[in-house]
Amino acid sequence: MPLKLFVPKERDPVETRVAASPDTVKRLAGRGIAVVVESGAGDASRITDAAFEAAGAAIGSSGDAGDADVVLKVRRPTADEISAYKRGAVVIATMDPYGQDEAVRSMAEAGILAFAMEFMPRITRAQVMDVLSSQANLAGYQAVIDAAAEYDRAFPMMMTAAGTVPAARVFVMGAGVAGLQAIATAKRLGAVVTATDVRPAAKEQVESLGAKFIAVEDDEFRAAETAGGYAKEMSKEYQAKQADLVASHIAKQDVVITTALIPGRPAPRLVTKAMVESMKPGSILVDLAVERGGNVEGAVPGEIATVGPARIIGHLNVPGRIAASASLLYAKNLLAFLETMLDKESGALTIDFDDQLVKATLLTRDGKVVHPAFAKDEPAPAAAGAGPQTEGGAA
Ligand code: NAI
Repeated sequence: MPLKLFVPKERDPVETRVAASPDTVKRLAGRGIAVVVESGAGDASRITDAAFEAAGAAIGSSGDAGDADVVLKVRRPTADEISAYKRGAVVIATMDPYGQDEAVRSMAEAGILAFAMEFMPRITRAQVMDVLSSQANLAGYQAVIDAAAEYDRAFPMMMTAAGTVPAARVFVMGAGVAGLQAIATAKRLGAVVTATDVRPAAKEQVESLGAKFIAVEDDEFRAAETAGGYAKEMSKEYQAKQADLVASHIAKQDVVITTALIPGRPAPRLVTKAMVESMKPGSILVDLAVERGGNVEGAVPGEIATVGPARIIGHLNVPGRIAASASLLYAKNLLAFLETMLDKESGALTIDFDDQLVKATLLTRDGKVVHPAFAKDEPAPAAAGAGPQTEGGAA
């Protein structure tokens, strides 16, 4: 019997992405895997059923989840979806498990092997599987496009016969994957760009993109990066110093784009209401962290909020606003990971539970929550890393 793989249409109404592309279906089908894609799964990403079919998939319905050995998804499955899966099925998705203990437990109880792609270690071998990077990169781009569309003025300086239009001043807070792409995009549009981050490594990256780096560069700043390349939560004292510096800077900006996240923690609050109110009329803020609690006070998830002179864009699922690109990259990330679990000759599923990538991402197995960050009452497997901050350096 060939391995059966199912790609559903995502259940969350804001989710426009799909976990497979014609390219990944073609590769899977080429390995003898029977791929079934739920009808309409790719519609919002501009991938038609016919395109999936031409790549070698059968078009099915949600009922096909029941006999799938592998399910590829964008989001954590809903309770209904989980109840349809067979025991032992491999389900690979962005599981967003923090604070979702009950959902994680229900995946364990259903006997599925749930893999959380966002816990993929940031090591060279796994770069092609890094969904956080592939999606954050597009989100950073889209944030600038969204800001430019709302902003009533031009981004580039224009010297015309009728006078000069000044360049927009764009400040990017958080210079990780999303922030760096936001800087690059705003520069391409001709803005004057500044950026900040708490990780010292970010300074050089910001400057290499031609933007100015703004930060409180004290001893805490110099030590503020984990081995995995992520930010640490900063002390209250540092946050206060940062806030003072940022306050005077923001008052002079036209556009602020915030991308600051700390894995497993609520997003740091970087922009207060008073800072927003200090901005010029027509200023725009984009809060890419709005779904994690928000970097900007007054940001409303899923809305464009007016606060004093400014508007704060709080779009949900920003990678999903550029879904036709995002799905292709996401699908490739999942394929690359799944391929590490397929036998080269037979195409059968052969999971090496000692593999670093498996250990870091596997949430549930054999009826138990096995990931050390979530297995509260269960004996944790000794060698697994805690949370997403596993071995590996920042790029
Ligand atoms: P993230 O999405 O977790 O956070 C976004 C940014 O917000 C980070 O740069 C973080 O330092 C910053 N931040 C957190 N708290 C802040 C605060 N209070 N004020 C200002 N900024 C704050 O991070 P992301 O984008 O996932 O990247 C983290 C690091 O991992 C980066 O160095 C990135 O280059 C690196 N990376 C390494 C890869 C590899 O080695 N394979 C792949 C992808 C990223």
